[in-house]
Amino acid sequence: MRRVLVVNGPNLNLLGTRQPEIYGRVTLAELEQSARAWGAELGMEVESFQSNHEGAIIDRLHQAREEVEGIVINPGALTHTSYALHDALVATGLPAVEVHISNVEEREAWRRVSVTAAACVARIYGRGVGGYRWALRHLVFRAALPLETVSYGDDPEQVADVRMPAGGNPPRGVVALVHGGFWRHEWGRDLMDGLAVDLARRGFATWNVEYRRIRPDRGAWPEPGSDLVAALARLAAHPGVDGSRLVVVGHSAGAQLAVWATRHGDTASRPAVLALLSAITDLQAAVVEGLAGGSVAGLAIPDGELEQASPIALLPLGVETWLVHGADDRLVPPSHCERYAAAAAAAGDPVHFRVFPGVGHFLPIEEGSEPWRWVAERLEERFSR
Ligand code: DQA
Repeated sequence: MRRVLVVNGPNLNLLGTRQPEIYGRVTLAELEQSARAWGAELGMEVESFQSNHEGAIIDRLHQAREEVEGIVINPGALTHTSYALHDALVATGLPAVEVHISNVEEREAWRRVSVTAAACVARIYGRGVGGYRWALRHLVFRAALPLETVSYGDDPEQVADVRMPAGGNPPRGVVALVHGGFWRHEWGRDLMDGLAVDLARRGFATWNVEYRRIRPDRGAWPEPGSDLVAALARLAAHPGVDGSRLVVVGHSAGAQLAVWATRHGDTASRPAVLALLSAITDLQAAVVEGLAGGSVAGLAIPDGELEQASPIALLPLGVETWLVHGADDRLVPPSHCERYAAAAAAAGDPVHFRVFPGVGHFLPIEEGSEPWRWVAERLEERFSR
């Protein structure tokens, strides 16, 4: 993908001063500049357009058909009403990602309605202006390699994006990717897009797993965990998958799910290697220390059952486990992971634990980062052809 258009709709010209408690202090000019820089990192040119007028946006989208290969759009309040914008997005024939700075799912009920989302390949909300960066990444990695979304249950969230190795080679193994985001709904499997493409380029089949996440009005433990168990069972039963070459990679809360699912899944879906990045390994400590704004409490695990969901209490797993953590992780302290590694080793699990200096919580899921390369290169060695 070489050129992308970023479109901002009504009232977004006032970013920075308009309800900063909801939309933050970044101005539109600053956002557009960041979008250009994020695009450059991804090797593409980003153009920006803002208008308060529906017709002007539609005209710009028509023009974009000839000029760009993808669209990132925050339609503002037009999201909730504009079928004309929906039709214009469809008419472009281009992949579009809908972005909202605020958490539209947790505001007025009418903001949950999006008539434009059906014309988009993904919808990202509640991640502040950083959501535009995730949207650009999603477009790039979606275009990089073909993917097929498979369902492993009836809920729309019970899906996984499957990518086969680049170049049509038989896979050297299959990797299930489990994203984090403190089990909360505003974070999704797009977090792992970069790793999925990187692994497919290294010769692995990848399953980038979505699961039911927690919302204020819906969802509770163990849904995310039992979804991962179901996803791995579906994966293990997939034609051509060699269970002895199954790897599960979990990031942050996704690592907690990966450990839990390894413990609760059947032997057919037991991974050969579990790679845990910036892992949440101790739910009780997370509650005591108030990690991530108390999102463990959001899981609504009944009193007395927290321990059964906590990775460090589920040892041993009988699975080779690799733990990678940033020394500068401010969301999940590396000391938790260190304790897990020591407990796992004492219980007999083969463990490799690496702390990377100068690395924060999210860097291990950036495909070019040192911690990720450490994991990916070891996977290539471990599953050589
Ligand atoms: C918005 C959310 C919309 O509901 C609102 O009308 C906006 C901005 C967002 O970025 O959060 O103008 O799209």
